[in-house]
Amino acid sequence: MRQAVQLARRGAGWVKTNPLVGAVLVYRGQIIATGYHARFGGPHAERRAVQSALQRYPKRIVQHATLYVTLEPCTHDGKTPACTPWLIAQGIKEVIIGSRDPNPLEHGRSVRWLRRAGLQVTSGVAQTDCDYLIRCYQKWITTKMPFVLGKVGMSIDGKISAPKHQRYISNPAALYRVHQLRQEFDSLIVGVNTIVHDNPRLTTRLSLHRLSHPIKIILDSYLRTPLSSQAIDEHTVMVCRETASRQRKTAFIKKGADILELPVDPTGGRLLTGYMDMQRLLQELGRRNITSVIIEGGANVFTTFINNQAIDEFYIFMAPAIYGATRLPFTYALDQVVQLTSVQVEQLDDNILVRGYAHYSSYSIS
Ligand SMILES: NC(=O)c1ccc[n+]([C@@H]2O[C@H](COP(=O)([O-])OP(=O)(O)OC[C@H]3O[C@@H](n4cnc5c(N)ncnc54)[C@H](OP(=O)(O)O)[C@@H]3O)[C@@H](O)[C@H]2O)c1
Repeated sequence: MRQAVQLARRGAGWVKTNPLVGAVLVYRGQIIATGYHARFGGPHAERRAVQSALQRYPKRIVQHATLYVTLEPCTHDGKTPACTPWLIAQGIKEVIIGSRDPNPLEHGRSVRWLRRAGLQVTSGVAQTDCDYLIRCYQKWITTKMPFVLGKVGMSIDGKISAPKHQRYISNPAALYRVHQLRQEFDSLIVGVNTIVHDNPRLTTRLSLHRLSHPIKIILDSYLRTPLSSQAIDEHTVMVCRETASRQRKTAFIKKGADILELPVDPTGGRLLTGYMDMQRLLQELGRRNITSVIIEGGANVFTTFINNQAIDEFYIFMAPAIYGATRLPFTYALDQVVQLTSVQVEQLDDNILVRGYAHYSSYSIS
């Protein structure tokens, strides 16, 4: 199943709004075929694995092989015909499943159908890994809101702006992980100050022949972003107030960017007042079939998203440096305490990645 999880990751960036799925077919302890969901609308992982085995082995062997699949097979016809009846028709005898499908229309249906047809079915194998694979899909399919990941590169004393002579806080191994995340996620959000200060490209840069770039969403109430910024192109959405200059809106549209107008947060942006309403933004992104978003900062943006309890998971990359009080902190005053759960710690050369799901609790500040 762990091999199926690895395979599933190859579809990252190409299957949205579908989940990542991998499959492995095992006969007498040997892997005889593998498959993964490689593109939206393309064949599903389990079908690819079984079809590939049928091309190379007698049907009898394929039927007596065990199919490992990270997600419960589908039961309805969509872009492709349903996998469950197809597997039954192929005469497969045993299926081992990682996660049940979180889609309320599917959840457990395939397991019941396969069992009724006489197949031996086990589910929940390596479930933590399989569930992690589909966390964005799971949030979007059940809430129609995107999964939100907060990604920050900081010094060991929690500062997110590097001294002048230094371009990046994080080391190359950490930056590589960031580009992997961008390959996996549909979109990213940054504040206008980050664009003005750093002029980032915000693209995916991996040594792959197929790259998926996230949609770049820039929070900029009055469209202060310089038109010459590297991030502005046809994959950019400028989020601004309705009252922002019409000429600036037209200028961004001419550069290929999309304009999304938002009202001000009715709660007053919690501790940061007068900002645009981020819950409305996330609802709108979900409505546009954006299943996942990375919050890339800076400090103001991290603060409003945390105060809105809007970040589901954090990736915190820590570099072995102490920058002191003159540099920008990760957040300003919070009215939430964030505790990470299911924490994983990884060493990336001399950087440390701490990641985990966000659990919020309020505390009153006097
Ligand atoms: N190390 C890291 O991981 C990292 C990542 C990103 C940035 N940075 C650093 O962070 C610095 C910039 O951070 P910053 O805090 O000054 O600015 P920021 O968070 O990049 O941008 C904040 C601005 O975005 C606009 N905005 C619109 N809606 C917002 C909302 N709902 N919530 C928050 N902001 C909203 C506001 O400007 P308007 O009122 O004009 O709309 C606000 O002043 C840069 O130096 C950059 O290098 C570090």
